[in-house]
Amino acid sequence: LSPTAVGPHERGRVRVAVVIDVLRATTVATTAIAAGARSVTTCLGIDEARALQRDCQPDCVPLLCGERECKPIEGFDFGNSPSEYSPAGVGERDLVMTTTNGTRAIDAAADCDVMLLACFANLTAVADAIIAEVSASTPSGALDSEFVSCQPPSTSGRVRIVCAGTNGAVTSEDVLLAGALIAVCHRKLSDTARFYDGPIELVNDSGSIALAAWQHCVTHDKVVDSESLSRRLGMTGGGQNLIAAGYENDLVDCASIDVFDQVPCRDQLHPPRFIGR
Ligand code: MLT
Repeated sequence: LSPTAVGPHERGRVRVAVVIDVLRATTVATTAIAAGARSVTTCLGIDEARALQRDCQPDCVPLLCGERECKPIEGFDFGNSPSEYSPAGVGERDLVMTTTNGTRAIDAAADCDVMLLACFANLTAVADAIIAEVSASTPSGALDSEFVSCQPPSTSGRVRIVCAGTNGAVTSEDVLLAGALIAVCHRKLSDTARFYDGPIELVNDSGSIALAAWQHCVTHDKVVDSESLSRRLGMTGGGQNLIAAGYENDLVDCASIDVFDQVPCRDQLHPPRFIGR
């Protein structure tokens, strides 16, 4: 298992890609699936979203969701606040979503067998899904073949974590979740892989930077629960943007840790569509 963070500049097919846009696209997609939405299809443009809606059968017209400059898009059904996505609003419905950075990261991460969407709300569920996928892809069990033989890790078992950031720049809220995900995978694998010191190999520096950022957050900034995480998210680039746009309350939802078991998982490539697993 070789998680690598961060960024769409990483090329080459991988077994699992995990896309992160904590504030707020992947938190919203996860909240929608947890609220009973049947699927979330993502696309880059507003016109593309409208065309996807127009081309649907009359009995399953999708709801349009997303934002531009943090604000709801004119004529769309929902904006990009997790609290909008209730069972009454989205249960049993298909959604089409377009956002500024999150849906672009999904597009950039396309070259993978399995794509998962992660947020703090499904942190442990995503870690479990990563471990299950990597184990399933390695005939004798994911843990030994790469570590016993000391071979360089094969890309077939590799996990890539793609952080959306903002307009091409890295933002720490996404890097913090990447680090938390690496830490949880590491802890879970350490519990079972007693023979190895390091069950996870970080294949580049961005993975260790993310892990160090999360560890610093826990030990130095005392981020120990959703409340302290919410305060910490408010200090990040994405958090400052949301506060400036009047969406400070969303920080609390986006900082809720492990409240959902659902992981949005891609079940169709073009356009990318996610269902719960
Ligand atoms: C994005 O995709 O850029 C974000 O979801 C932005 C936002 O939440 O406003």
